[in-house]
Amino acid sequence: MGTWKRHIQELKKEFHVTEAAHMAALFQRTMVDGLAGKKTSLKMLPSFLSVPTGRETGKYLALDFGGTNIRVMQVELLGNGEISILGQRSSPLRHPQGLYDYSAAGSTATELFDFIADLIHDLVDPGDTYALGHTFSFPIQQTDANNAVLLCWTKEIRTQGVEGKNVTQILSSALERKGLTNVVPQAVINDTVGCLLTAAYQYPGADIGSICGTGHNTAYFESNGPMIINLEAGNYDLISGTGYDERLDCMSERPGTQKLEKMISGRYLGEIARLILHDLADKGLFREHAAVQRMLATAACIGAEDLACMLNDTSPDLSGIADLLRIKLHLAETLREERIAIKEIAHMLVIRSACLAAATYCGILQHIDPDLRRTHVIAVDGSLFEKMPGYAATIRIALEQGLGDKAGRVRTVLSKSGSGIGAAIAAAVVGKSGD
Ligand code: GLC
Repeated sequence: MGTWKRHIQELKKEFHVTEAAHMAALFQRTMVDGLAGKKTSLKMLPSFLSVPTGRETGKYLALDFGGTNIRVMQVELLGNGEISILGQRSSPLRHPQGLYDYSAAGSTATELFDFIADLIHDLVDPGDTYALGHTFSFPIQQTDANNAVLLCWTKEIRTQGVEGKNVTQILSSALERKGLTNVVPQAVINDTVGCLLTAAYQYPGADIGSICGTGHNTAYFESNGPMIINLEAGNYDLISGTGYDERLDCMSERPGTQKLEKMISGRYLGEIARLILHDLADKGLFREHAAVQRMLATAACIGAEDLACMLNDTSPDLSGIADLLRIKLHLAETLREERIAIKEIAHMLVIRSACLAAATYCGILQHIDPDLRRTHVIAVDGSLFEKMPGYAATIRIALEQGLGDKAGRVRTVLSKSGSGIGAAIAAAVVGKSGD
């Protein structure tokens, strides 16, 4: 057998999710422990919000802060499960040419939230009053629907002065500095909660909301509350990774945290691919192995969008991958068999990510409806689920394997922008419009 083939086979074995059923059962038990207040890696954070009726109406501002982009939308809820986006502004958190980076350790809470207030300022009319919902996609400990303290940054964000602080107060101060006293924060939510709120507004039976994007996390409706609970599933750690996962963790901003997220989410998938390819270059597998080693020495030089691009290349000689490697990594000379191997690695990482996410969904379903007596909708938002070739289909297949003949009772839907729109619904639920 060729050397490449042998290495790829070994990697595939290492990255294969073998015990999905066991993982689902353990995940479910950990949820129960977390709900009982035991110290577990699932934070089980209360949202102080229930699901909407679908009859909520009115115009709201929705602020979506997820760690990559900041988006402000003016959303109208039409009261029959219909939603209309009237206007929006968005901006990346990091300037593409490096003029600013509000996610870096050198930036402060004031700078970040003044930037957010500027975006809001551009969208609102000074003569109108606005109720604002805020999607803040990080672990937040809430005391009510409109007050939340950031427990810790995730997704490698390092902005100073936000951890341990009430994010609604920080936002309100920034709005005040900008003279935006006509914008009134009403609710603050996690993005998974937003995703679930939007789906529940549109589809009866939606009770799980999840993000498979830059980060990974899930929320569900807990009937013993009753309220939506944010699991902070990305921090789940009763799972064993490969040596590459361990290396990635050691090199990350916060080693030992967000173990599942580091195996699933888009922020890290490209980085695992880089570590694997670098290792294979160290073993001398690439013809130009020294050049590959040099090019892959820089952290984060491969992103999830590159993996998507590789998987989209179905040309016989993988010329798309050749172009990507030439343009992005300056690797002019790659062999076809090397490109085939690279594509297989991308595929293997994407499959593992989707299978792990699906195993956690099975665990949540076991908790809320062990015999699947009812129908369920799992609403997912995020770039992996929306854009990564084969991702949504693999989640579906894994759910069918995990749930058996009752899998038909569980639908998975893309909730595009649901995480941000959900902030408007949260503001409406808090204001009790349409009840
Ligand atoms: C990270 C955050 C979590 C968020 C997820 C998806 O896991 O900790 O709060 O929901 O990313 O954006």
